[in-house]
Amino acid sequence: MDQQQIEKYLDGSLSRTPGTKIQYGHPSPRYWEKSDLDLPDLLAPMRPERQLSLYLHIPFCVPTEPGACGFCLFAREDFESYPLVRRYVDSLVREIERVASLTGRRKVDCVYYGGGTPNLLRGPEIKRIFEAVATSFIVTDDTEITFEGYPPLFTQERLEALAEVGCNRISLGIQTLQPDLLPESGRTQDLAQIESTLRFAADHGMRANVDLITGWFGQTPESIIKDVDTLLDWGATGLVNHPLMIVGDSDFARRAEQLPDVPAQARTFDAARIRLLERGFRMDSYTDYTAPDQRCVRYLELYRDILNTDRIGVGYGANSLIAGTEFAPGSTWANLRSIGAWQAGVDEGRTVIDDRYAFSADDLKVLYLLKGLEGFPWLDAADYSRRFGGDLKRDYAPFWEAFEARGWLRWEGDSPRLRGDGIFYTATVQRVLAEPRVQQLRTSRGMGARSRNPLPVVVRG
Ligand SMILES: C[S@@+](CC[C@H](N)C(=O)[O-])C[C@H]1O[C@@H](n2cnc3c(N)ncnc32)[C@H](O)[C@@H]1O
Ligand code: SF4
Repeated sequence: MDQQQIEKYLDGSLSRTPGTKIQYGHPSPRYWEKSDLDLPDLLAPMRPERQLSLYLHIPFCVPTEPGACGFCLFAREDFESYPLVRRYVDSLVREIERVASLTGRRKVDCVYYGGGTPNLLRGPEIKRIFEAVATSFIVTDDTEITFEGYPPLFTQERLEALAEVGCNRISLGIQTLQPDLLPESGRTQDLAQIESTLRFAADHGMRANVDLITGWFGQTPESIIKDVDTLLDWGATGLVNHPLMIVGDSDFARRAEQLPDVPAQARTFDAARIRLLERGFRMDSYTDYTAPDQRCVRYLELYRDILNTDRIGVGYGANSLIAGTEFAPGSTWANLRSIGAWQAGVDEGRTVIDDRYAFSADDLKVLYLLKGLEGFPWLDAADYSRRFGGDLKRDYAPFWEAFEARGWLRWEGDSPRLRGDGIFYTATVQRVLAEPRVQQLRTSRGMGARSRNPLPVVVRG
């Protein structure tokens, strides 16, 4: 693409909400294909010297009105009963054991329980999965273990069970602390309980992350600054600020005209960023902030450091990424996105893959570039040249120039870093950088620019 085409692409994207890493990797799941490869073949490009990241998906959620909190993009199910949850846990443990029988009992660097709503599990189910992971893999004191959840479900009993099994990080989906704004999603919260959950975490040496969403009905820069201040005063050690993504036919999507427009969303996003920096937090990615005395969250670091990490997702709809090498690239895949089909497959010992994308060497380079613009470990010209033998500045010169001309990017030594509005538009920057490779894919598959496959439910890993 030349600079004029890049400018045109960016101009055409400004009025669309850019989105976040929740939705976009490279390439988008629109370009993935049905796979009949068996798990041993999928895992073959793993490398023993790489770090290992495990993602475990717990899909169940407290039902809300509107459904799925009005906005949620994930593979999730309304909670019906604990016998069904226990049945899911049985299958999850079976899949953990199957993966470990193929990988060997490797050291695991981070384990992330995501959802859905992991803290819907109770003590016995939590213990069962933690034991399965510890038996199948080597979990050490250095292993970062995160348990995500819906704030009202972080009860004393669950927190104690988590502390007992060695969980060292919790993540609370706050979204907004404003009591007048929250009901739009049908979610509930108790401010005193959030405060005491954060206190419990601090008292037990656990890190505590909080998720906020920018672009909520009625939200203003002032209200998000208030949320940031309150959560930091209560001891949150990390904060993720997600720009609201609207896709599909969610309740929020149907009411999209009542949401703040994109420039207003960008202002609120920026207000939170500036406040977090004023409070001494460090920006470890365009959405992730960390307390000054803490290192970057391992899960996020490994999520981006794809060339040094093997990432395996377990559970229905979970996503794995084994990059392999430039000479023998690996692939990324998603487990079956129907809970019944996933469960039946696991129980019968079958491979439960829905679709997959086999990387080319070019894809690995694109992924490396996109992840490094998103956050720590940041993109670095010396590392790029060592890995790919090129010149980062020269190889993408028209892109850097277009971003710099908008005030979206500045070189800090060897590292191109997004700045100003470029931070809010990170996903837009990623899409335009990936566009030449995506155009090749469209051409090779005979897909018109408009005749794209529908985007499946978002996968996590
Ligand atoms: C699995 S949820 C967190 C745990 C728990 N289920 C809850 O909601 O409290 C993961 C996070 O993704 C974010 N998220 C989900 N859908 C989103 C969307 N459409 N746009 C932006 N962020 C979204 C929310 O901040 C949410 O906390
Ligand atoms: S935001 Fe959390 S609780 Fe709400 S539907 Fe999504 S995963 Fe479930």
